[in-house]
Amino acid sequence: MAILKIARMGHPVLFGRAEPVADPGAPEIRRLVRDMLETLDDAGGAGLAAPQVHVPLRLFVFRVAEGRTSGDADDRVVGDSVVINPAIEAVDEEERLCWEGCLSLPGLRGAVARRWRIRYRGVDCEGAPVGGLAGGFHAQVVQHETDHLDGILYPMRIGDFRYFGFNEELSRAVAAGRQP
Ligand code: NI
Repeated sequence: MAILKIARMGHPVLFGRAEPVADPGAPEIRRLVRDMLETLDDAGGAGLAAPQVHVPLRLFVFRVAEGRTSGDADDRVVGDSVVINPAIEAVDEEERLCWEGCLSLPGLRGAVARRWRIRYRGVDCEGAPVGGLAGGFHAQVVQHETDHLDGILYPMRIGDFRYFGFNEELSRAVAAGRQP
C-alpha cells in the first residue's frame, strides 16, 4: 500500500481525456485501487479519480460517509467503492446547486449545478457491475469524479464566481451574513 501524490490544478494530467481500463482485474489496477483508497482516506476526501494520481485511466474511488448524505432515498452511506469505466445517465431534469471541493484544489470550494438524481454503471476489480440509482451527495460525487475522467474540474462548471473561493473566506462571509 502507498499514499499517492495528488496532482493539483494546473497539472496537464488533469485536463486530458482518460482511457478506458482494458482489464479491471489486472494486478496493477487492483494495486492502483488499493493505493487510491488509502490516499483518499489519508486526505479525508469523498472521491478520487485516477488522473488525480497521474494515471490517465477511467476509474475512480469514492465513499459517502455518515453525515454527508442528503436524506434523499437514493443517497445512503456507501463504503469504500471503486467504479471502473463509468457511464452516467440522467434520470430526470432536476438540478441543484451543490457546494464542492476537490483534493486537486486544496482549501477551495465552489457551488456547482449538478443533477440531483442519476443512474450510473461501471464495474469493480472483479468485473462485477456496480452503480445504480444515486441521489444527492452520492450523485454529486459520481458526477464530480466522472468529470475528472473527461478533464473537467469543478471550477469549469461554476456559473457564479461569487460562490467560489477559499474555505476560510467563504466561512467568514457566511458567519458575517455576507454570503451572496
Ligand atoms: Ni475532484
